[in-house]
Amino acid sequence: MANTVTDISLNDGNTIPQLGFGVYQIEPKDTAEAVGRALEIGYRHIDTAEMYGNEAEVGEAVRASGLDRGDVFVTSKLNNGFHRPEDARRAFESTLAALKMDYVDLFLIHWPLPTRYDGDFVSTWKALEEFQRDGRARSIGVSNFQVPHLERLAAEADVVPAVNQVEVHPYLTNEQVRAYGREHNILTEAWSPIAQGRVLDDPTVVDVAEQVGRTPAQVVLRWHVQRGDIVFPKSTTPKRIEENFQLFDFTLDDTAMERISGLDKGEAGRTGPNPDEFDYIPA
Ligand SMILES: NC(=O)c1ccc[n+]([C@@H]2O[C@H](COP(=O)([O-])OP(=O)(O)OC[C@H]3O[C@@H](n4cnc5c(N)ncnc54)[C@H](OP(=O)(O)O)[C@@H]3O)[C@@H](O)[C@H]2O)c1
Repeated sequence: MANTVTDISLNDGNTIPQLGFGVYQIEPKDTAEAVGRALEIGYRHIDTAEMYGNEAEVGEAVRASGLDRGDVFVTSKLNNGFHRPEDARRAFESTLAALKMDYVDLFLIHWPLPTRYDGDFVSTWKALEEFQRDGRARSIGVSNFQVPHLERLAAEADVVPAVNQVEVHPYLTNEQVRAYGREHNILTEAWSPIAQGRVLDDPTVVDVAEQVGRTPAQVVLRWHVQRGDIVFPKSTTPKRIEENFQLFDFTLDDTAMERISGLDKGEAGRTGPNPDEFDYIPA
């Protein structure tokens, strides 16, 4: 079985590689090397954000790779301080300038911030619709949106988000948000797919890994892939960057899938902030 990353169709007709490389918490000085390594191994999808402070280094690595711009799928996200439409327009231009790119493949509202901006994330979304119309964002989506936030966009906006990027891993399977996405043609992107390492010594995960002769990280990432979600594990360790790329040359049977899904702890399994309450605006 060849290890070929699946491309998935988005609701706007574009496609996205199901496996990418995440760069949250990679220091700017280490980013170009890590992304360069990932591109060398075969990753063709990079997930960054203005908040991560390493967009420039992502752009640098893509250019240094010698790959055509069109062969690498690049996502970035609008930072929390820029939700007002005029700020969003300026922030989006800064993102493109930092990346030194004339378009991104996907641009997301990073957090809904329902307790900020008088609860208005709809005008922010309409600014993203402009970026898509003028071709500078090939696809647009949201991140950390809960079902009521998605329902509000459905009622008040024109474009259905292509993706919703939310925390998902075996301890927080996030079924309600994923089900809404399935029903409305919004793909789920699973952030912190291995819960930043916390799920890797779980006895069930370790047992499944032993049974299929793979590592705990590989079986958890494969579980996401078989559920149809998009993943972009982060690592600055060359061996792990390689390990996390080997997901498409084995399968998990239904029993293994159900055992891993059974580890869900609901809200107690959440490792990041609750999107209904999160209101952080970087200084
Ligand atoms: N939209 C959002 O609000 C949001 C929030 C969080 C994350 N994200 C995105 O999702 C991406 C992934 O999430 P994440 O970075 O939080 O966490 P993650 O990918 O679940 O885990 C990363 C951690 O696991 C370790 N690791 C990676 N591969 C491993 C392996 N094969 N074996 C053992 N340990 C391994 C890494 O260590 P080393 O680096 O030391 O190898 C790192 O400490 C981010 O980079 C970002 O792009 C988005």
